[in-house]
Amino acid sequence: MSKSYYIGLMSGTSMDGVDAVLVEFEQQQPRLIASHSEPMPRSLLKGLTRLCLPGNDEINLQGNLDRAVGQLFAQAVNNLLANNAIPAEQITAIGSHGQTIRHMPNLDMGFTLQIGDPNTIAALTGINVIADFRRKDIALGGQGAPLVPAFHQQLFAQPGSARIIVNIGGISNITFLPGGADEVVGFDTGPGNTLIDAWINHVHNKPYDEHGAWAATGTTNEQLLNHLLSHSYFALAAPKSTGRELFNQAWLEQQVANFGYLSEADIQSTLLDLTCHSIANDCKKLSDNAELFICGGGAFNDELMLRLANLLPNHKILTTKDIGIAPQWVEGIAFAWLAMRHHHGLSGNLPAVTGASREAILGGLFPAQ
Ligand SMILES: Nc1ncnc2c1ncn2[C@@H]1O[C@H](COP(=O)(O)OP(=O)(O)O)[C@@H](O)[C@H]1O
Ligand SMILES: [Mg+2]
Repeated sequence: MSKSYYIGLMSGTSMDGVDAVLVEFEQQQPRLIASHSEPMPRSLLKGLTRLCLPGNDEINLQGNLDRAVGQLFAQAVNNLLANNAIPAEQITAIGSHGQTIRHMPNLDMGFTLQIGDPNTIAALTGINVIADFRRKDIALGGQGAPLVPAFHQQLFAQPGSARIIVNIGGISNITFLPGGADEVVGFDTGPGNTLIDAWINHVHNKPYDEHGAWAATGTTNEQLLNHLLSHSYFALAAPKSTGRELFNQAWLEQQVANFGYLSEADIQSTLLDLTCHSIANDCKKLSDNAELFICGGGAFNDELMLRLANLLPNHKILTTKDIGIAPQWVEGIAFAWLAMRHHHGLSGNLPAVTGASREAILGGLFPAQ
């Protein structure tokens, strides 16, 4: 197989921006050629945040934002290509995750909903788009998430060494690669950055806590931490996945309502510890000495990395940069990979991870023509 080029487009629960990556595949092996991050406009962020929870006039808002997110994703692609002087004709397909506005896989009629009209992306870029990656897995009884473990396995598995890939986006998910014939384990551990982002936004009107510096000035309150850790999600067995439906601003305000005597920085510190403790607890259950490779925006939160290392003294903690991929691009590359898998008629899910009844080709094709 000669070389082929795909673009991966990802915007996660943080809604911080659209990550666009240009990936060259030779055989199945990806190589990152170029990357671009398209910031999320404030007006769009406001509308999307509203859509993530039930509200009024949802259908009109959804219809409008579906197109607007499609336009933003197309702009991310066009800027990525223009900045690197690469013609659209060279790209086999775009793999677009879209923006999740609802993820409820555990209802009787489970569903997940990503918007960002792929037809709009195809029309504005002139490139074939593969999108809607999660719903086939749900149709087969799975969670539709996390989808990145299949990619982590292909890229990062190393025979003889136990590795855990921890993707700390808005939500955090982990992939355990035991290093032998054993099956891959993967699931969402719970909140990653979403609560610490929400709290600093609420108190200081900032999008995130740079390097965790504000959390570092606070003192964790054990009582609040234990209360948060008693959330039933953490005790659930995998397969499991979650989102803003469980861990959102309103929930957070309810939880801290009885802790009005704590300083705002103490609450931030406690929320950061919730992320670190829930991840560390799950890692310890999976392996007592695996190497951890962190990716996602959480890798840039120094205080988070420090606390995680303190909680896991027997685990070596690195980032995916140490195995060849910069942490902020791993998930985008995974969606380029999923597009490549679709194009070649190959499966994209791991039933042992998502709980689907079988492997399946994920996504649908939206042709440029
Ligand atoms: N320098 C930094 N310091 C602290 N946190 C950061 C930094 N850079 C990114 N982050 C965190 O990472 C988040 C974005 O991570 P990302 O992997 O893009 O998540 P998602 O997939 O949910 O979009 C931001 O919202 C922020 O919380
Ligand atoms: Mg992001």
